[in-house]
Amino acid sequence: MELFKYDVLVIGAGGAGLRAAIAAKEEGASVAIISKSPPGKAHTVMAEGGIAAALGNLDSADNWEVHFRDTLKGGKFLNDWRMVKLHTQDAPVRVLELEQWGAGFDHTPDGKILQRPFGGHSYRRLCHKGDKTGLVMLQTLQKKAIASEIDFHSECLITHLVVEDGSVAGAFGFYKDDGRCVVFQAKAVVLATGGLGEIWQVNSNSYDCTGDGYALAYAVGAAFIDMEFVQFHPTGMVWPMGVRGMLVTEAVRGEGGILKNKHGERFMEKYDPERMELSTRDIVSKAIYSEIKNGNGSEHGGVYLDISHKSVDEVKQKLPAMYEQFMDLADIDITKHTMEVGPTCHYMMGGIKVDPATEQSTVDGLFAAGEVVAGAHGATRLGGNSLSDLLVFGNRAGVTAADFARLDSRTHRLNRDKIKQYEAELVAYFDSPGTVNPYVLHHDLQRTMQENVGIVRNEAGLKLAQIELDRLKLRLQHVKVQGNRKFNPAWHKAVALKFMLNLAELITRAAIERTESRGAHTRDDYPVMVDEWGKKHIVITNVHGEPHITTSPVEPMPNELKKLITG
Ligand code: FUM
Repeated sequence: MELFKYDVLVIGAGGAGLRAAIAAKEEGASVAIISKSPPGKAHTVMAEGGIAAALGNLDSADNWEVHFRDTLKGGKFLNDWRMVKLHTQDAPVRVLELEQWGAGFDHTPDGKILQRPFGGHSYRRLCHKGDKTGLVMLQTLQKKAIASEIDFHSECLITHLVVEDGSVAGAFGFYKDDGRCVVFQAKAVVLATGGLGEIWQVNSNSYDCTGDGYALAYAVGAAFIDMEFVQFHPTGMVWPMGVRGMLVTEAVRGEGGILKNKHGERFMEKYDPERMELSTRDIVSKAIYSEIKNGNGSEHGGVYLDISHKSVDEVKQKLPAMYEQFMDLADIDITKHTMEVGPTCHYMMGGIKVDPATEQSTVDGLFAAGEVVAGAHGATRLGGNSLSDLLVFGNRAGVTAADFARLDSRTHRLNRDKIKQYEAELVAYFDSPGTVNPYVLHHDLQRTMQENVGIVRNEAGLKLAQIELDRLKLRLQHVKVQGNRKFNPAWHKAVALKFMLNLAELITRAAIERTESRGAHTRDDYPVMVDEWGKKHIVITNVHGEPHITTSPVEPMPNELKKLITG
């Protein structure tokens, strides 16, 4: 079996992973990035409309303090205030740095980075490149990482973190092309694997967003918080069926797009008359959900989004990707006709609990950054905050992981028997006497979660999901993969299913526990926000293979920051 040795191993090649690797390399560490997708396929590209940073280029009253207030209000004050402070203070620096690295954001006539409005942001704050912001950011970071001579191991699926003497010592996985196994020995590991949208039927995520980092961290005992908070972006495509869930960027609403029901009513007037279409995502998604449920939906089960009142040139210039997407996939010219849209699972607010400043998890030597981490966004994330989060915390995780590696004089010996056991687990799918098809199992998981653990939840549905998840876990033991180890997507699916089933259970358990409605977690049997619940996080850890659930207090904010909220 091949063995590679690095100071810092970064798992995930999206924005957070790339930024962490660049930072670790700058600190002098030997670094590798492991990515299970080909380069450029990360979910970072699905943050299209912009990156939130209080540069104040268009609205000079904007600054990190207003951004801090907006982010906490959006997160219903469940956010870790330290993370929000670091995020909002560091975001402008990281954006300007990216511009210097060649991102080429859109500019005002006087040469400043152009900013647009987005839901829940008090000012025009979203720096962007048309509606391809995530894409250009990813490309910029990739070029920088390549220039920094960071090693890449692409299309390599990590299945286990290796822990020795209580510290992370590396990772084990296999290359997808020929299925050969590989071991990485490292002093520090940064998880930057993104989200888990593939657990739901209708989602905006890449098919690779199967929650690998959460599952890897859970397996080695890391603590998790806020797993009940899953973001449903208000606008995904609903038609044709083959592209259902694909993101329709919030930038459409940022540029003046209007939501209407089948009667042509601008229904956001009922739900948030002040902010209308630029309300926070939880509110807009629930509004759309209600319109559809009350029989006011569009032909294919969504609502209408209209930007056709803007000039053709403006639409094509500001929203080129949306124009092409609807033209190519739905044969709809959005400069003339309305789009059909509906909520789509987009982002996970909950995840690995880390120290806000160092990004170290509760496991020694295990760091994390980006979507896989909890805390920065609380109960709902504001659009554009994920892109700045991944730069800010990716950078921090890279620096601290490199420091950790430099100061760690231990050399952990990797246990060969354990590694052999990991390989045996992997190949067992081929020898299984079972008959369960991993694709069918995935479909059943997605349906269960879509029906019972979606935008609006209740105890009956959540308990039903729990029972169904137990059944699916039993069926997982009988999964059979046909063929061999050479690029075999069914095999990759089987591995991902194990991850996703564990995570679906954590999300469902947390959603049962939180008997209130807050942000993205809505319970129709507990429809109001409860003060007591605003003071605690639900914490989950793996104790002997079973989720152990407790709560931890939300840390009180110092008075000088409290003033920013009320002011
Ligand atoms: O709608 C969007 O462009 C998505 C942005 C985000 O999730 O931050």
